[in-house]
Amino acid sequence: AITVDPGTRGAAIDKTMYGVFFEDINRAADGGLYAELVQNRSFEYSTDDNKSYTPLTGWTVAGTAQVVNDAGRLNETNRNYLVLDAGSSVTDVGYNTGIAVEDGKKYDFSVWARADSGTTLTVSLQDTGGTLATAHQVAVRKNGWAKYKSTFTATRTSTTGRLTVASSAATALDMVSLFPRDTYKHEPNGLRKDLAEKIAALHPGFVRFPGGCLVNTGSMDDYSAASGYQRKRSYQWKDTVGPVERRATNSNFWGYNQSYGLGYYEYFRLAEDIGAMPLPVVPALVTGCGQNKAVDDPALLKRHVQDTLDLIEFANGPVTSKWGKLRAEMGHPRPFHLTHIEVGNEENLPAAFFARFSQFRAAIQAAYPYMTVISNAGPDDSGSTFDTAWQLNKDAHVDMVDEHYYNSPQWFLQNNNRYDSYDRTGPKVFLGEYASGGNAFKNGLAEAAYMTGLERNADVVKLASYAPLFANEDYVQWRPDLVWFNNHASWGSANYEVQKLFMNNVGSRVVPSTATGTPSLVAPISGAVGLSTWATSAAYDDVKVTAADGTALLSDDFSGDATQWTHTGGGSWSLQDGQYVQTDTAAENTMVSAGDPAWHDYDLHVKATKKAGK
Ligand code: AHR
Repeated sequence: AITVDPGTRGAAIDKTMYGVFFEDINRAADGGLYAELVQNRSFEYSTDDNKSYTPLTGWTVAGTAQVVNDAGRLNETNRNYLVLDAGSSVTDVGYNTGIAVEDGKKYDFSVWARADSGTTLTVSLQDTGGTLATAHQVAVRKNGWAKYKSTFTATRTSTTGRLTVASSAATALDMVSLFPRDTYKHEPNGLRKDLAEKIAALHPGFVRFPGGCLVNTGSMDDYSAASGYQRKRSYQWKDTVGPVERRATNSNFWGYNQSYGLGYYEYFRLAEDIGAMPLPVVPALVTGCGQNKAVDDPALLKRHVQDTLDLIEFANGPVTSKWGKLRAEMGHPRPFHLTHIEVGNEENLPAAFFARFSQFRAAIQAAYPYMTVISNAGPDDSGSTFDTAWQLNKDAHVDMVDEHYYNSPQWFLQNNNRYDSYDRTGPKVFLGEYASGGNAFKNGLAEAAYMTGLERNADVVKLASYAPLFANEDYVQWRPDLVWFNNHASWGSANYEVQKLFMNNVGSRVVPSTATGTPSLVAPISGAVGLSTWATSAAYDDVKVTAADGTALLSDDFSGDATQWTHTGGGSWSLQDGQYVQTDTAAENTMVSAGDPAWHDYDLHVKATKKAGK
């Protein structure tokens, strides 16, 4: 029975409480939310991004063409360009199965080109079934680099399209681009409509961006001649604004190239378009996500602190200010009303992180006293690193602390009361990343149950976002994810429906209630919890784990003789809720389903043979 106490006022719930966390993981940006259809449009793919890449990845050449990196380039930040010889052509394959076009829809082609003598480019769209739009002739003048445009109207629907550029004379090409006219809200350099609409349908209170691990990993240097035009840089917002042809591409922590076509301006614009609060994360000069290195360079730290102040000016400053002027030039004279900013993500060195965080915080609060500066509690949800980080944040009266956890449905059900005992006088909580390890109905249900605990504690838990948001089904580094897609379709998970339910029905105040006789839906998996200790001892062999219905969950690949379980991929593994989970490598934190038992099957059976004489 549930008893509701309407006479007592519970915690007020902020409208912004539930939001989304967008990270460029699983090709969530290029090949995803960013509507550009051409892959590797500026020929910048490099082995630094991914060992399999070349500057022509995504392209095929008929005839002869060379990627050139010399002083004839388009600009200093866009190093490579393609020289297409007379009578030759290049064809781009897009993402997934190709370039997806819809019959009757318009597609805007553009290219930067330079030819010593005037020339004509022939641009066409086709698939193996033939032409997808009338081919266009683009006349290239003989002056230096210039941008040329033309628009296609698709005459057929296809998901396997290819874009070809052919030249009558030797021509230099860069930034070969094809955009659907029909982007979200018809914004230029815009977002893929179905994916942006999936976010908008949630009615999120905030958008946390751009990561995640990609924010604070890699070099903290800038992209300049002095720094050697480094790739593998941390995500630095200034790389991602201004004209797209001047945005230096970068290696993404998740193993591919990021064009930065979707950059800080586009993130702010998305947040505004969907009525959500923007919540950027900047690197804190302590690398996280397995790298765990504090960068000890006061001048560099000073520059990053100044960059963060400049970011606030870019978002909120008057058009007469340096960075407010850039925002206006990009098309948005009005401010973006930034009120929250996060410094750092999952740093595992609490003292080093906090020393740097404090400098960011002091500078931000001096210049912009209205800003909420969010700190974090490291990569774990408990333990000594977590406790130390929390204590430092508490002692310094930090506004809000970001916590992350990826656990089993069982954990989420058992920890519903996590925030009941949090200190009401300490920093508020931003639950910036959480997920229960799967996209099945049971995961959504466990997360929904847990969210009732977040909401009950809405006086302490101020913001919460599931993670990650997107996955392109053909380029997955991390699962589960909230929304899945390919080059022409997208679909929400059970977890997405749960988030939508909560975000579309945010109450204004908690009404205290108590429940009695709540059925225990899940039998404790004590056998599995104990397993990691005793099954790995030298005393046992042939350990087998089965669900109640006899389904084999784990029956091989590890041995009681080892001090650690072994499994393809190596590392530490543990059994959580019928899934075999790799727990020690953040970059490869994949979950391997070892069976998908229904609710009643959580009663796991563990069998092992004791060794003779033990
Ligand atoms: O959400 C995926 C990753 O999980 C994030 O990049 C990181 O912050 C966390 O480890």
